[in-house]
Amino acid sequence: MDAPRRLPVDRLLDDPGTRIIVCCGAGGVGKTTTAAALGVRAAERGRKVVVLTIDPARRLAQSMGIDSLDNTPRRVKGVQGVDGADGGELHAMMLDMKRTFDEIVEGHADAERAEAILANPFYQSLSAGFAGTQEYMAMEKLGQLRARDDWDLIVVDTPPSRSALDFLDAPKRLGSFLDGKFIRVLMAPAKVGGRAGMKFLNVGMSLMTGTLSKLMGASLLKDVQTFVAAMDTMFGGFRTRADATFRLLQAPGTAFLVVAAPEPDALREAAYFVERLAAEKMPLAGLVLNRVHGSGADQLSAERALAAAENLEEGGIVDQESGNAGLRDSAAEAEAADADAAGADVDEITAGLLRLHAERMQVIAREQRTRDRFTSLHPEVAVAEVAALPGDVHDLAGLRAIGERLAAGVPAGA
Ligand SMILES: Nc1ncnc2c1ncn2[C@@H]1O[C@H](COP(=O)(O)OP(=O)(O)O)[C@@H](O)[C@H]1O
Ligand SMILES: [Mg+2]
Repeated sequence: MDAPRRLPVDRLLDDPGTRIIVCCGAGGVGKTTTAAALGVRAAERGRKVVVLTIDPARRLAQSMGIDSLDNTPRRVKGVQGVDGADGGELHAMMLDMKRTFDEIVEGHADAERAEAILANPFYQSLSAGFAGTQEYMAMEKLGQLRARDDWDLIVVDTPPSRSALDFLDAPKRLGSFLDGKFIRVLMAPAKVGGRAGMKFLNVGMSLMTGTLSKLMGASLLKDVQTFVAAMDTMFGGFRTRADATFRLLQAPGTAFLVVAAPEPDALREAAYFVERLAAEKMPLAGLVLNRVHGSGADQLSAERALAAAENLEEGGIVDQESGNAGLRDSAAEAEAADADAAGADVDEITAGLLRLHAERMQVIAREQRTRDRFTSLHPEVAVAEVAALPGDVHDLAGLRAIGERLAAGVPAGA
């Protein structure tokens, strides 16, 4: 099996044609880390970058100076173009989903209406976490950042959904909900012009609202209706905006990176995502295999390490038996026995280490088989492998280390 094509990370970052990089993948695989690391690396190579993070770990956010939520990008201190790469800057922000929703309302309704919407309890629960709101707002924010045109590269992290596909599906779902049947029924009286239609709908409405108010309680229903009426000006807007950002994601300046762990389930999901991107005509740059295991001593195979360990352990038992066989009545013999015992300890420790090494080599082999299965399914997808670092990634130095591994593309012995 041929090794996969290596993802040319630096070429991607340096290409002025690359305007948006989207890091997708299932939860917990390293999307946020990858997005931040790419941001740091691109800035230090001279680009003016903004990274939109969604849910950075607290310490990572602190290290980038974005632990307070104000929903606007801030310049990250300590990151600038190095080695003559002039003009490099990193800006970072953490998405505030509710604030983004509020900004849409404020930007699309007059002050009085905006106030009524923002104060409505139905709006408050919708904006605080209706399924898909986070994905929708991430897309919305991406659209806003792109429209500002202040950066030459935008790196986007995606929400911690269970599935990578949610990022593509949820905005449309929320858009259809907001433009959907339920809401149109509730709004109908305000919209219908003709008298006949009016009468017909009013009968329908009173039956409907009668049932609904029994189900939901009259005051809650009134809140929903007020909300819906107040949002009237924005209808159609949601779908249109989701569609516009969707098209942005299909543009040639966009590059998707699918982040996955080198495990069968993760790569099966990554394969679905790759197929889906192709179906949506969204440009895939490649796969980031994160937390790949490596070894600095990979010339020693698992089999040979195990054989050596067994050899040592058997040798140790023989030593012990011979040591215990005779009576020890002289100091010299006792000393020799001590040395034997110390030798046996060293052998035991060495054998233990060899076994650990063998296990590591087996993990590496398993991960490579998993990767090869993906590559035989999708030979067109370039891959960058990033070693598992010994600790969490929570500062700029850690992000640089990830960036170097991304650029090298092959796991350095770690
Ligand atoms: N290559 C790596 N080596 C070591 N730790 C990593 C690596 N990649 C990610 N992590 C750690 O794994 C955790 C999850 O990463 P994160 O980027 O937040 O995942 P996601 O955004 O996909 O949920 C974080 O604590 C991060 O520091
Ligand atoms: Mg994340």
